[in-house]
Amino acid sequence: MNEHLLEVADLKITLPAGGATITPVDGVSLSLGRGEALGIAGESGSGKTLTLKSIIGLLPPGAFVEGDLRFALGDQAPIPYAATDVHGRGISIIFQEPMTALNPTMRVGDLIAEGPRIHEGLGKGAARERAVELMRRVGIPAPERRARMWPHQLSGGLRQRVMIATALSTRPKLLLCDEPTTALDVSIQDQILGLLQEIRTTLGMSIIFVSHDLAVLGELCERLAIMYAGQVVETGPTEAVFSSPNHPYTEALMTSVPSFDATSDKLAGIEGHPPDPRSFPPGCRFAPRCRYAQDDCAEAQFRLVPTSAERSTGCIHTEVFAGRER
Ligand SMILES: Nc1ncnc2c1ncn2[C@@H]1O[C@H](COP(=O)(O)OP(=O)(O)O)[C@@H](O)[C@H]1O
Ligand SMILES: [Mg+2]
Repeated sequence: MNEHLLEVADLKITLPAGGATITPVDGVSLSLGRGEALGIAGESGSGKTLTLKSIIGLLPPGAFVEGDLRFALGDQAPIPYAATDVHGRGISIIFQEPMTALNPTMRVGDLIAEGPRIHEGLGKGAARERAVELMRRVGIPAPERRARMWPHQLSGGLRQRVMIATALSTRPKLLLCDEPTTALDVSIQDQILGLLQEIRTTLGMSIIFVSHDLAVLGELCERLAIMYAGQVVETGPTEAVFSSPNHPYTEALMTSVPSFDATSDKLAGIEGHPPDPRSFPPGCRFAPRCRYAQDDCAEAQFRLVPTSAERSTGCIHTEVFAGRER
């Protein structure tokens, strides 16, 4: 039996941008096992959010998608994404900013109950009961009282719990998390991570967790995909990637320190800026910032190549890492 829940092969997303078109996601390949948590790391603008949005079908108008997305419902092997009805059934997403993602004109309980009402046809009373039960499930104190509140009456941490409850309300097989803790205080961040970890184990969900912060991914994810300039440049088990990165960008990301300004995802410690999708450099896109770059890097055709059964890299000069232990 095929154990994969999701397979993404050579995903390309082209968007209209100021009269021109850009391809900010340009050859992303990912696979996700059932029950697995995959972390996607990369600087701001590398295409993480667009990749998640394509998986849940939330791309902006005018977006053109190429490549192959397959998603498994039930026990069958993954089938082409276009043939599955993922909306409200198999996949949910939580975003970084619960305040902008939660409809401000609906009471918290109604927000959480909306999915079950639409997708399962639950009546008002039963949906309200489900909402309160979910709020209790995600650790919201006094859920009956809070169900009658508006989103702006809750703290950032509680709003993020409401978003998680909303995401869980349709009993997804796959939860997509787009920097869900980035806007929160560190202690609240830890609580939300703990909650996601616990939910994942007890509900047996798969998770794709996007963050620019590798430490956060290390806590939750057993596998990592590192993105740079619209491409996945390295994949592998988290511990292996941490102890011996196979791509210079991964190494740079690991030795850089996330900014103390929690709302920005700028990284201190990597020279230069990630390239703009309007002008990706030829060959290896990281080469202009890479301390190991050689002449042939700018000519190399990008390919993610397996280096072992579980790992792959897009770097053509992995010999620079040979024999090094970190
Ligand atoms: N709706 C859009 N129209 C035009 N360009 C976009 C749109 N959404 C994102 N982009 C561009 O695509 C690139 C990748 O964006 P995104 O996926 O949000 O990156 P990340 O989540 O890694 O920060 C960025 O350069 C961004 O400016
Ligand atoms: Mg993003």
